[in-house]
Amino acid sequence: MQTVLIQQIPVGPMANFSYLIIDMASKKTAYVDPGFETQKVIDRSQKMGVTIDKILITHTHFDHIQELDKAFEILKVPVYVSGIEIAALEEMRIPAHAVVDNDCISLENASIKCLLTPGHTPGEICYWVENHLLTGDVLFVDGCGRVDLPGSDPQKMFQTLKKLAALPDETIIYPGHNYGPTPTDTIGHQKKTNPYLAAALKGEQNFFNVRGVF
Ligand SMILES: [Fe+2]
Repeated sequence: MQTVLIQQIPVGPMANFSYLIIDMASKKTAYVDPGFETQKVIDRSQKMGVTIDKILITHTHFDHIQELDKAFEILKVPVYVSGIEIAALEEMRIPAHAVVDNDCISLENASIKCLLTPGHTPGEICYWVENHLLTGDVLFVDGCGRVDLPGSDPQKMFQTLKKLAALPDETIIYPGHNYGPTPTDTIGHQKKTNPYLAAALKGEQNFFNVRGVF
């Protein structure tokens, strides 16, 4: 029995996805990564008759937070971000709650678990609710996030992907970009088709030094 519904919304010129995590009974909704086309996402929420009551950030690269100031001004709801990356929001003068690994954010009848998943950035958070995992720029369908950027760390990405590979096979991933052959997939299928996840699962640490750039 599912408590939440995930809406995947393509936004902007870089194949980004924003997401709505909707608690179906209460209609309370979390808006994940207001990078682009905030108004389109808010319009979608209004059409569905749901109420955005918090904003969650996976990581603070510009294509995930560029319109956070706009979203915050319109919605005026609490913002949650990794404590490790909160400085980027302070610079934007956006007040935010700092989350740490294993924190839970309540959405009325559902609980969204925060998984610290560094590698692409130092403090990226994946949001896990029921069998849904919003993976930001950590894990894409058949790929993983770049690890050659300032703040990236290939070995942390290796550890992070090992952690995600240990989640139940039926977990559905919802990436931050539409880079794969399908917009979502399961962890179980990704173990077979995603070379980065497969390498992490097999303990092939060097794979990430040589080929850790997507
Ligand atoms: Fe990113």
